[in-house]
Amino acid sequence: MSPEYYEDISPSTGTLAPRAWYAASDAKRLPLNETWDFRLSPTAVGSGTEFTEDGYDSSDWDKTVVPGHWVLQGHGAPAYTNVRYPFPVDPPRVPDENPTGDHRCLFDLPADWPGGGETLLRFDGVESCARVWLNGRELGTFQGSRLPHEFRVTGVLRPGRNVLAVRVHQWSAGSYLEDQDMWWLPGVFRDVALHHRPEGAVDDYTVHSSYDHTSGEGTLRVDCRPRGRVTVPELGIDAATGENVVLPVEPWTAETPRLYDARLATPGETVHFRIGFRTVRIEDGQLKVNGKRVLFRGVNRHEFHPEHGRAVDEATMRLDVQLMKRHNINAVRTSHAPPHPAFLDLCDEYGLWVVDECDLETHGFGELDWEGNPVDDERWTAALLDRAERMVERDKNHPSVVVWSLGNECGSGAGLGAMSRWIRERDPSRPLHYENDPECPDSDLYSRMYATHDEVELIGQRKEPPLEDAAADARRRALPFVLCEYAHAMGNGPGGLSEYQRLFETYERCQGGFVWEWIDHGLLRRTDDGRAYFAYGGDFGEEVHDGNFVCDGLLFPDRTPSPGLTEFAKVIEPVRIEVARAEPGGTSGTASDVIVRVRNLHDFAGLGHLDFEWSCQVRGERAGGGPLAVPPLGPGESATVTLPVDAVSAAGGPSGRGEILWTVRAVLAQDTSWAGQGHTVAWGQSAVSPPAAIASSAARTGTEPARHAGETITLGSAVFDTAGVLTRLGPLALTGPRLDVWRAPTDNDEGAPWQPEARSATTWREYGLHRMRHRTDCVEAGPEGLLVRTRVAPAATGLGLRTTYRWSSSAGKVRLAVTVEPEGAWDFPLPRLGLRLGVPAALGDVTWYGGGPGEAYPDTRAASMTGLWHSTVDGMQTPYVRPQENGARPDVQWAELRDSSGRSGGSGTPDPPLPHGPGLRVEAEADPFWLTARRWTSEELDAAEHTTDLVAGETVWVNLDHAQHGIGSQSCGPGVLPQHRLTAAPAEFTLVFGIPDA
Ligand code: GAL
Repeated sequence: MSPEYYEDISPSTGTLAPRAWYAASDAKRLPLNETWDFRLSPTAVGSGTEFTEDGYDSSDWDKTVVPGHWVLQGHGAPAYTNVRYPFPVDPPRVPDENPTGDHRCLFDLPADWPGGGETLLRFDGVESCARVWLNGRELGTFQGSRLPHEFRVTGVLRPGRNVLAVRVHQWSAGSYLEDQDMWWLPGVFRDVALHHRPEGAVDDYTVHSSYDHTSGEGTLRVDCRPRGRVTVPELGIDAATGENVVLPVEPWTAETPRLYDARLATPGETVHFRIGFRTVRIEDGQLKVNGKRVLFRGVNRHEFHPEHGRAVDEATMRLDVQLMKRHNINAVRTSHAPPHPAFLDLCDEYGLWVVDECDLETHGFGELDWEGNPVDDERWTAALLDRAERMVERDKNHPSVVVWSLGNECGSGAGLGAMSRWIRERDPSRPLHYENDPECPDSDLYSRMYATHDEVELIGQRKEPPLEDAAADARRRALPFVLCEYAHAMGNGPGGLSEYQRLFETYERCQGGFVWEWIDHGLLRRTDDGRAYFAYGGDFGEEVHDGNFVCDGLLFPDRTPSPGLTEFAKVIEPVRIEVARAEPGGTSGTASDVIVRVRNLHDFAGLGHLDFEWSCQVRGERAGGGPLAVPPLGPGESATVTLPVDAVSAAGGPSGRGEILWTVRAVLAQDTSWAGQGHTVAWGQSAVSPPAAIASSAARTGTEPARHAGETITLGSAVFDTAGVLTRLGPLALTGPRLDVWRAPTDNDEGAPWQPEARSATTWREYGLHRMRHRTDCVEAGPEGLLVRTRVAPAATGLGLRTTYRWSSSAGKVRLAVTVEPEGAWDFPLPRLGLRLGVPAALGDVTWYGGGPGEAYPDTRAASMTGLWHSTVDGMQTPYVRPQENGARPDVQWAELRDSSGRSGGSGTPDPPLPHGPGLRVEAEADPFWLTARRWTSEELDAAEHTTDLVAGETVWVNLDHAQHGIGSQSCGPGVLPQHRLTAAPAEFTLVFGIPDA
């Protein structure tokens, strides 16, 4: 029995050879993107094919929008798996349950559609297998979801009304090649259009546009079938196709995306396109563009939209590119499939290095020890080659595409070799990438994912452990290194970015990497009462799924940047600015004290597009500032400048008035296509040393006595219960504070099940850190204040934290000195160490002096800027798709929570608060603290599965932490680095509480 076409390994029938995609041509096109009639069947054979016939009446069918996925339009449901195939693995067979969407589109051919030439019907993306009819005539079938497919329809297409019928199967042999970690989303999800091909039209064309950095000359040759002429007016080029033209040009780079408008005219068609001159080579063990090593500050981008899945419109693509540019990202790996072709035009235009990856992943065979892996079975080789050809031919004319990637996570096999041989022969101008075979036979880059910092360091030194095969080892050791995936951005995090960047900047071999990944794939859904949230795996009743592992991006699903993106932008900034006090003999306050070191970390660009400005803050209030002259610096160059003399007078004289903060920013000097003039590209701030005494000394010197009064104890304006727990401060009812070590585990705390090392959250729960008990051993009220000794410990272990609270009071403030002594063998880190207290819900306005505006943790704090910040409790929450610990502000010297009635507030605006209402002021005495405030407890946060599970209560819970455990990247990568671990050890910290001035 011959296989059904959808279970046929051979890729397609009736389709044409692939060719270059281009947007602008004078040949006619008719987009067929609209609302089509739609019928869903549960099996591939369940419905007949009468619908393909001319006279069939589909008026009672449902509707579907093309491009789109039917599962996101009310028919069936999406499903998410990471590695596992959601069907039995028996290639190339698929289950009988094979949702099949019959699509019908009636369209009128415009009256002026030209008579001569040919007409093609083009599909830019259909998942996963289609069979196509026009006016009742079958055109053919195809697989290869994220790749273009064209049919010749000349002679079948007719004037007036036409009937296009497309049957789409969710599962096909092709599904075995498309096991990427993402939603399974069937449908006609990219454009469908008729393309007229006049007689003598461009059949296909290839642009060769290299750049010789030694001479400054570009070489242009455009090969075309049929022959024609190429003109580039700006360069005075008017040449025949096939002819080499050599002349001085400005090169294209991701930093300087210089494009030249060009025109290709054949007898039947004129095509407009843009040329970028650049040459990519592997030389001296480095990947070089135009003769220079480049550093990828990259992200992995899946196409995703929270409502439309992989049907991503032009505006969204452009927004992605603009957001990348605004966050200093310079590279994108199109994980794990070629994107919509228009995305690459945007990368050419805005400037991004692109690793264009083929639509290929067979990861699920890993579950079977790679038994039957299609890339190692020659019966599949034609399908693999078809995929490679469709990608390369479609995308070959983009200067932004600097590397071809064979696919992702397919293990190893001869099929990959066949792909690499074909690509090398077809396009020797670009290196190849493939990560999943340790010997790298088909890759010009040594690529890894989630390697630890230590391992990257060894690789940087070309001292990594050897491969068994000496020849393969020697070859690999000579290759440039990239992390095709690192820093798993799932939930809160990723931690450890700064440490990776240091390695990339230290070792020439380490040419950067691509954070996993760009955007959370959460699908917009609503609760029964209409509240919006983002759904993830398991929310659609999938029997096999991988939960929220699909939400691991730097953007939230609605494209709001997450704190991880802000951190990444800071870590990879292309200009490093270090501001320091010169400290000559300890004198301060003279202009020469403030030294600014500027390093240009661009690979190609100077700093001409940037303005530098300095500012000075005294106790968080702006006290001066102005432009800063920085000498022109070429790539890699640095200079030291001193702030202008009038800086000090602007700051109001020597530093006696309080802490002075010096901040220097590099901002865009002019509007660009991705951000406006004044957009901050890079910044540096003088290191703030913790002031010797932050809190008012009044609370420390002398104290009022503590006294028992009935069922309470009083100390100054503070009231405690008989267990020594603070219940009131002046007019303010309070709960606590008490020692707290628990945080709602982050995805990185939870870690991935396959991680070899201990996973924090598992250990914490095992030891019961989420259910600590407080035992009071002594409460002593006396003339020195109140002394409370406690032991805080989890059930069923001998572990404990002896915690002493020493309260004193004077001048209306109360001071709390806490000491913590661990007992037992705490051989695992603590989540946090600090105090939790509850304040009335009305205290929703927050002002703090410390790190901001966004959240930070020990290993995600590069982007935290010291200043005077204002926000609200609501604005301080980070809405991770799966709720988890979030929102800490680091280095806080003081904070005030005030009544927010009548106020609205954004996140971290620098405006001073309006004076109003009673509130609470907390001051650090020596070490600054970490501030977190929210309307639910850590336990409620931990229990929530979606943002809509979190409901505000009567209390704002405030965490004032002495220390926090780092974040790491263990949801897929390495855990918290040793220097960011919070070890249980004796600790002391002091806070002062008061009622803020009105
Ligand atoms: C990698 C894989 C990605 C994604 C990531 C984890 O192994 O290539 O597609 O699954 O892990 O989010």
